Amino acid sequence: MKKKPAGGERRVKTLDRVLSRAGAGSRTEARRWIGAGRVAVNGRVIRTPDHWVDPERDRVTLDGRPLRAARKRYLLLYKPTGYLTTYKDPEKRPTVYDLLAGVDEWVVPVGRLDLDTSGLLILTNDTDFGELLTNPKHKVPKTYLVKAATLLTEEQLAALRQGVELSDGPTLPARVRRVRDSARYTHLELTITEGRNRQVRRMLEAVGSKVLKLVRIAIGPLRIGDLPIGRWRDLTPEEVRALGGGRRSQAILQIDTRLQR
Ligand code: URA
Repeated sequence: MKKKPAGGERRVKTLDRVLSRAGAGSRTEARRWIGAGRVAVNGRVIRTPDHWVDPERDRVTLDGRPLRAARKRYLLLYKPTGYLTTYKDPEKRPTVYDLLAGVDEWVVPVGRLDLDTSGLLILTNDTDFGELLTNPKHKVPKTYLVKAATLLTEEQLAALRQGVELSDGPTLPARVRRVRDSARYTHLELTITEGRNRQVRRMLEAVGSKVLKLVRIAIGPLRIGDLPIGRWRDLTPEEVRALGGGRRSQAILQIDTRLQR
């Protein structure tokens, strides 16, 4: 790879990364576009994906179409069960993108919710913000309402609080509140600061129970509120700031997604 230009400013990125951030495609696809001679920087066709680009100064085009400056978008979606948190599904099942009518920017989910989990999902085109919320070192709390398949004892709740052993290592301490018990089931509020694959389900299995229903009700201070299921809204600037975002200004260039999809 060519040496990063002197100054090493954060905003300078390789061409394949600039394109994949901008469009509906992966970096592999972006490399293919570059290899096919479809991409120009400042009017010159560039065939090396590692070419350094300053998205704020350089003019990047794909098939002669400029990447346009996209405004940062921060969406809150109340994801229903039965929707995948991916863009395309080989089995053609519904995805969260089917619920984003009216959103022109290319946004991506911040973390994932399982097909059978509902609740609060943030989608954004601000990758720094996404990283801030998902990097385990930032320990952003995510709160879930859990319906367990059994009645849980205080010992089981204490184990969840302290941390349980999973196949990929022990879990960090969690906040656990018994919401209510019905005749056969315990309803809990569980707050974790990690985001491992199927973590809550595996935690309940580790204490000898199972999740029957899982709803994410909060990420940090952000709650679903009265947003109807299946609907989205923009986060307010205050909400973005409360989650630690919106501080750094960084240009986001975006291919016109209406043409790309
Ligand atoms: N934990 C899970 O098990 N599933 C989710 O979708 C989210 C957290």
